[in-house]
Amino acid sequence: MCFVPRRSSEPPLDHGLIPWLGHALEFGRDAASFLTRMKAKHGDIFTVQVAGKFLTVLLDPHSYDSVVLESPDKLSFGEYAKILMERMFDVRLPDHNPAAEMKMFKMHLQHQSLQQLTGAMFGHLSSVLNSVPGTTWREEGLLQFSYSVMLRSGYLTLFGSESMQGSEVDLRHSLDIYNEFRKVDRLLMKSARGQLSALEKKEFSSVKENLWQLLDIDKLCKKPGRSKWLESYQRHLQELGVPTTMQSRAMLLQLWATQGNSGPAAFWLLLFLLKNPEAMAAIRAELENLLEGHEIRHLISQEMLDCAIVFNSALEESLRLTAAPFVTREVLADLPLNLADGRKYTLRRGDRLCLFPYVSPQMDPEIHQEPQMFQYDRFLSVDTSQKKDFYKAGRRVKHVSMPWGAGRNICVGKFHAMNSIKLFVWLMLLNFEFELKNPQETLPEFDKSRYGFGVVPPEGDVVFRYRRRYNQASTK
Ligand code: HEM
Repeated sequence: MCFVPRRSSEPPLDHGLIPWLGHALEFGRDAASFLTRMKAKHGDIFTVQVAGKFLTVLLDPHSYDSVVLESPDKLSFGEYAKILMERMFDVRLPDHNPAAEMKMFKMHLQHQSLQQLTGAMFGHLSSVLNSVPGTTWREEGLLQFSYSVMLRSGYLTLFGSESMQGSEVDLRHSLDIYNEFRKVDRLLMKSARGQLSALEKKEFSSVKENLWQLLDIDKLCKKPGRSKWLESYQRHLQELGVPTTMQSRAMLLQLWATQGNSGPAAFWLLLFLLKNPEAMAAIRAELENLLEGHEIRHLISQEMLDCAIVFNSALEESLRLTAAPFVTREVLADLPLNLADGRKYTLRRGDRLCLFPYVSPQMDPEIHQEPQMFQYDRFLSVDTSQKKDFYKAGRRVKHVSMPWGAGRNICVGKFHAMNSIKLFVWLMLLNFEFELKNPQETLPEFDKSRYGFGVVPPEGDVVFRYRRRYNQASTK
């Protein structure tokens, strides 16, 4: 396969030195550095060989629309998702129709459903945070804390709860889910790349078994507080004739798709705010302003959430710096690819196409000045509306940051995720005092093996101190 002659109209090809494997090792170790190096060598479009597969990488943000808006019959999101689904979660769905699934997801995660989800999330965030006892100072990893609160609340919101009032059963069960999920999470990248050792394979299987038990579909469907999203997804699986054991496996896949990014995103945002007192003060002032004359529960109105433009800018900035998904499509037919500047290429059927917006636009110094710096107001214009004017090569850039993907397969949970992160940070500000244990500590490094799968978690955690402001439950 290595020696199939490439056509002159195809992007430059870099095989790497190792036959068949090509660049797989470097790519898996640190995709951002590898792709930046390839960009310097070949420009903003090239093909690399990775574990027997030809991967064409496009890094020109002006041309991203020609990929993300292309018909799924030519560039498929579902084909690659199917491979990962099976490899990572042992999920095989007969007649899987990703388009139908996405339509159903949209209906239950967006539009009219969003308000109900936001209300439920607010209730569960409040309950989980209220379960922190007393008003004494505590120390914990900020990632551990943020991920745990976000995942437990997000899980109870979507997968169901016994009550909205934070019953002991819900608090305990959601903690079990979180603890087991983190064990799976740690082995996921190796499983996606087929790099688990025999021992790790055993551990991975055993933790997944535990989670399949915890996410048993029959038990989930009996919960009084289950969401419409869960009900419809389960009905959809039933209609496909998926056996119940496989349905429980699909629940774990969905737990990862819906909860794997929000916790790390909440962590990074809180950390940037803690390291930037000016940004923290601006977010706090905006919250106080919004709350003037209102009760806390008004925070869950979409109008109030949308008004928080300083917060939106800080969140967008934090995601710009830390969200690094691959937008991957399987090439289903030989295809012309016309770039925005007039260059024309052909893509070959059977290859894979990948955008990596983290390199450009997100960290592109031509688009974002001092791209390594957190500037909470980067996405605010002088009249304090959302800033949209960013330029590259003299042309306005449409996609200035792409944490959610874009186009046909843009994240369906985007609005729920944004609302959830906002509520989490606001509830923290209203109910807790918190600070870094060591404010001089530099930001943690990324876990570089996680590039490509969404928000990149840190290599290690950062210790913070927190204590409740009041003794009684104050967030209800
Ligand atoms: C900060 C949080 C989140 C980020 C950064 C994020 C990002 C993404 C990205 C980049 C994609 C893939 C787009 C593509 O390949 O074109 C995606 C897909 C998806 N997201 Fe999100 N997401 C987040 C939170 C959520 C939440 C809270 C939900 C649901 C409630 C959700 C549900 C989904 C689903 C269902 C898919 C499609 C997955 C599939 O078909 O396999 N996401 N998300």
